[in-house]
Formats: sequence, structure tokens, C-alpha cells
Amino acid sequence: MATNRTFTMIKPDAVENNYIGGILKMINEAGFRIVAMKYTKLSAEAAGKFYEIHKERPFYGELVNYMSSGPIVAAILEKENAVADFRTLIGATDPTKADEGTIRKIYAKSIAANAVHGSDSDENAQLEGDFYFSKLERF
Ligand code: CMP
Repeated sequence: MATNRTFTMIKPDAVENNYIGGILKMINEAGFRIVAMKYTKLSAEAAGKFYEIHKERPFYGELVNYMSSGPIVAAILEKENAVADFRTLIGATDPTKADEGTIRKIYAKSIAANAVHGSDSDENAQLEGDFYFSKLERF
């Protein structure tokens, strides 16, 4: 059964380009409630751990370097059918393939610097939220 929470990061390229406000506005207007939020920076070690699932992929090194290159915004979001609806809102991983009006179509530069992360399953949403937030940081 789908849970009502997902996890997102606004990635270094989007932070650098001052897109935090625009992206959060789209998230709120799509009906997501912010359960937890943090402005922080990943070390290379932490980025490697977060994306461990992609360890064998050819882009893993690039991904880890990039995700530890600057600050990010991490958040847990709540809405009915959160994981699927958030993936619809952000669009395809490759922004050239993302639908019009999606966050990645509007804000992403490339497949690596693709503006936002969104969990791909309820299980990963839980794991990823737990990676950043204690119970006391969720409201
Ligand atoms: P994200 O949703 O954060 O999950 C894994 C990330 O790996 C993905 O977004 C992309 O930023 C990145 N990624 C996926 N495929 C590639 C690729 N072919 N080259 C570089 N980065 C990639």
C-alpha cells in the first residue's frame, strides 16, 4: 500500500542558481506538506552512502562528487500517494525527457545536475528520510 510520505533533495545546481524558492512554491502548490526540512551539505562520504544503491553504476563517482559539491535542501513531504505524485511533479530523470511544466523541465540543467531528487519507492522514502532526520525533527 502506498504511504503518504516521500523524500526530496533540492540539489547543488538548483541551490546555486537560487531556485530553492521557485521549487518549494511548486511543491506547496502541488499539495505537499513539509514534514521536515534541512539546509545542509553532504560530505563525499555521506553522498556515497546516500547513493550506495547506485555504487556499481558508471556515473556513481560523478554523482557523489556532484552531490557533495555544494549545499542542498533535504525534506520529507506529505500528501496522499506522495511517492508517485512527487515523481510526476518532478518529471523524468533526464530533463530533456521531462514533461512540460515539471520541476526538472523548468529548473534542471542535465541528467546529473537535475535539480531535485525524489524517492522511487515507499521503502526508499523511509530510508532516505531516516538518513537525514530524527523523529524530533519531523512535524
Ligand atoms: P536521482 O533521482 O537523485 O537518483 C540518482 C541520480 O543519479 C539521478 O537522480 C541522476 O542525477 C543521477 N544519474 C542517473 N543517471 C545518470 C547518468 N547517466 N549520468 C549521470 N548521472 C546520472
